[in-house]
Amino acid sequence: MNKLALRTEGLHKTYQRGRIKTQALRGVSLAIPRGTFCCIVGPSGHGKSTLMHLLGALDRPTSGQVFVEDQEIGKLSSSELAALRARRIGFVFQFFNLLPTLSAQENVTAAMMFSDKNKNNRAQRARELLDLVGLSDKYKAPPNELSGGQQQRVAIARALANDPDILLMDEPTGNLDSEAEAEVMATIDQLHQQGKTIVIVTHNNEIAARAQQVIRVKDGRLVEF
Ligand SMILES: Nc1ncnc2c1ncn2[C@@H]1O[C@H](COP(=O)(O)OP(=O)(O)OP(=O)(O)O)[C@@H](O)[C@H]1O
Ligand SMILES: [Mg+2]
Repeated sequence: MNKLALRTEGLHKTYQRGRIKTQALRGVSLAIPRGTFCCIVGPSGHGKSTLMHLLGALDRPTSGQVFVEDQEIGKLSSSELAALRARRIGFVFQFFNLLPTLSAQENVTAAMMFSDKNKNNRAQRARELLDLVGLSDKYKAPPNELSGGQQQRVAIARALANDPDILLMDEPTGNLDSEAEAEVMATIDQLHQQGKTIVIVTHNNEIAARAQQVIRVKDGRLVEF
């Protein structure tokens, strides 16, 4: 049997703001095999990003368990979690989140805090990653000199900085026009071909149609179909 990259058991997440409680997830159990191209779809506000944050150990569940490569992450300390996030999981968000005063190359090296590479090797690795995402001519460019699609490809290069096996992307093309979207999807396809596990939250049916596994979230639960 294929080993699992990610698994959850009975995941619940309740946010509390003052007296208002929001049950964002109400018992989500799922399994994503290694190397899968998986999409998470569903209406706005129904728990997709919440699920993604829990899968990536950016937040802790109210109850239930998350396993990354068979390791239950609820048992890890905050520093162990930070190390797991940095080494095993790469994140890409809808709004790129690049550091505006740094060049493309510096944005990528800034993510290498857990790397044992020295400064020159880090710079070299950052350039290789920018080559991979088709930005060989933009090493020195700050974000405000890059198009949306180019900025998102820098964000993908940054997510790859520590060579994670799993890439979690929350609407990575949500802010892009169709041409930039095609560029970013080509990069993502290539990473999938290389064996990475890809999990994408998307509202785009064309992207979901290409996925090997589609997870539908509605009212904080999975929809069987
Ligand atoms: N930090 C938070 N504090 C309080 N409530 C939150 C928080 N984050 C999300 N929520 C609420 O939890 C529910 C699920 O939100 P979530 O962001 O997971 O939805 P989503 O499916 O990603 O939506 P979208 O497609 O619009 O991005 C929503 O009702 C939202 O208002
Ligand atoms: Mg969301």
